[in-house]
Amino acid sequence: MSQDPLSSLYPTAADIPEQYRLSGQVEQRDYLVDGELRRWDGPLATVRSPIFLNTPEGDQQVILGSTPLLDADTALTALDAAVRAYDKGRGAWPNLRVAERIRHVEGFLARMLEQRDAVVKLLMWEIGKNLKDSQKEFDRTCDYIVDTINALKDVDRKSSRFELEQDTLGQIRRVPLGVALCMGPYNYPLNETFTTLIPALIMGNTVVFKPAKFGVLLIRPLLEAFRDSFPAGVINVIYGSGRETVSALMASGKIDIFAFIGTHKAASDLKKLHPKPHRLRSALGLDAKNPGIVLPEVDLDNAVNEAITGSLSFNGQRCTALKILFVHENVVGSFIEKFNQKLAALKSGMPWEPGVSLTPLPEQGKTDYLSALVKDAEAQGAKVVNPNGGAIRGSFFYPAVLFPVTPQMRVYQEEQFGPVVPIVPFRDLETVIDYVLESDFGQQASIFGTDATQVGKLVDLFANQVGRININAQCQRGPDTYPFNGRKNSAEGTLSVFDALRTFSIRTLVATKFQDANKTLISDIIHDRKSNFLTTDYIF
Ligand code: G3H
Repeated sequence: MSQDPLSSLYPTAADIPEQYRLSGQVEQRDYLVDGELRRWDGPLATVRSPIFLNTPEGDQQVILGSTPLLDADTALTALDAAVRAYDKGRGAWPNLRVAERIRHVEGFLARMLEQRDAVVKLLMWEIGKNLKDSQKEFDRTCDYIVDTINALKDVDRKSSRFELEQDTLGQIRRVPLGVALCMGPYNYPLNETFTTLIPALIMGNTVVFKPAKFGVLLIRPLLEAFRDSFPAGVINVIYGSGRETVSALMASGKIDIFAFIGTHKAASDLKKLHPKPHRLRSALGLDAKNPGIVLPEVDLDNAVNEAITGSLSFNGQRCTALKILFVHENVVGSFIEKFNQKLAALKSGMPWEPGVSLTPLPEQGKTDYLSALVKDAEAQGAKVVNPNGGAIRGSFFYPAVLFPVTPQMRVYQEEQFGPVVPIVPFRDLETVIDYVLESDFGQQASIFGTDATQVGKLVDLFANQVGRININAQCQRGPDTYPFNGRKNSAEGTLSVFDALRTFSIRTLVATKFQDANKTLISDIIHDRKSNFLTTDYIF
C-alpha cells in the first residue's frame, strides 16, 4: 500500500495562501432584472464549498455564503423584462446593427476581464477546479467571446451583398429568434454557459440566464458588467431552484430558445412544459459515456497519458471525459500497470496548490454514489486495482480503477461523472462495436491504435454513432471552432463558435423581382439608409 494521499489533504485556515483566502461569507441578495440589480428579501440557498478545513474539531466544510432562492413569480418578472426588451422583434436590441451589438459585447468583455482574479478564485472555492484549469476556463471564455465577434463579422460581411438567382434579387441575413433561456453546468459554470449566452445576445436575442447549481457566486462579480453593458432587459440573471423558477419560465410559453447543459432527463422534463413545443428551439449538451478503446497494436505510453487526462482531469467531471476504457487483452496488463503509475503521481490537494490535479468534489452525496458504483462492481467480480482507490475524506474521492468490468455492472452503463475508471478487457472487437451501437449516448469516442485497417474500420463504424472520433487522443470539446455535438441522449444541435451563431438565429430573406423599378427602390433604400436590414455596410 502506498502512502495515504489523504492524510494531509485539507489545510488549516492558516495554510491557505493569502491571495486565495476568503474575506468572509458572501450573502448575495441581488439579481439582475430589467437593467437593475434588485434586492431579494426572501429565503436564501446556502453555498457550500467542496473544500473542508482541518480544525481542532475535525474537518469542517467551508460555507461560502448564500444566494437568492427566487420564487416563480420573481423569475417571471425577469422573463417579462426579456419579453419587453425583445418587444416581438421590434425592440431596440434585436434591431440594432450588428456592429453596434458587437460594441456592446466588446464593452462587456473589457469589464469581464477586470474580474478575472475574483472569478478564478471563486471557481476554485465553489467547484474545486484547480488554479490552472480555473484560469484556463476564464481565458478560454474570453477567447470564445473574441472568436464569436470575429465569426459574426464574417457572417455579416457575407450578408452585406445581394444575390441574384433566377431573376430574383435577394439579401439574406441572420436575425434573432426571441427570448433565450440559458443554463449551464456546474463543471464549466462560466465557459459552457457563456458559449450559449454570448451567441444568444450578440445575435439580438434577449436572455434570461440562470447560473448552474454550483459556481453561482462566481457570476456575482459580473452582474454590474452585464447591467452596464447592455440595454435594460436584454440580459436578466435569476437564481434559485430550477424546479421553482425554470419550470415557470418554460410553462409560460414565452421562451423561444432553450439552451441547457445538464441531464437529458431534466432537459426532456423542461421541454415538455412548453405549451408550444414547435416554437421552441433547443441547444442541449447532455449526458455522455465516451469510451476509450485501446487496440492491441498501440503506442501504449501515449494511450495511457491520454487516458489519464481523459478520465481524470477535473476528477472526471467533464461531459467529454473518457468514462469507460476498453483495453485489448494482449495489452491490458501493461496498460493497467502504466496507468496506475501515472495515477499515483497525480497530486491530491487543494485547487490553489501548485501542480495539483485531484481535488474535492462539489456535489453533496457524490462520494456515496461513487462508492456504491465501486461496491456494485466489486460484488460482481471487479477489483479496485490501484492503491488507495476509492478512499474518501469528506468530499474527496481518490480515483478507483476497476477491473475487469463487465456489462452487468452499473458502471458499464451509468455516467459516473467522477473519478472512477472502469476498464473492460476485450478480445473480440465486436464487443466494443456493440457497446457503441447499443449505447444510449453518442457524444464522442477515442480510438488508440497504430494499425490502419483496424483504426479505419472503427472510424467508419463510429462515424454514424458519435459526434467526434478522436484518434490516439482523449475526447474533448476544443478547439472551439470545431463542431461540438452528440447523438442519442447526448445532445441536441451543434455548437461551435460559428454554429452557435446559427443556432441562436434564423435566416430571413428579402427578395424582389430583378426589374428596373425594384432595382431603383432597393438602391434608394440603401443609399438613403432607410433600412437596417437592407444595407451593404461592410464591417471592418
Ligand atoms: O463538460 C463538457 C465540456 O464541454 C468539455 O469541454 O472537453 O474542453 O473539457 P472540454
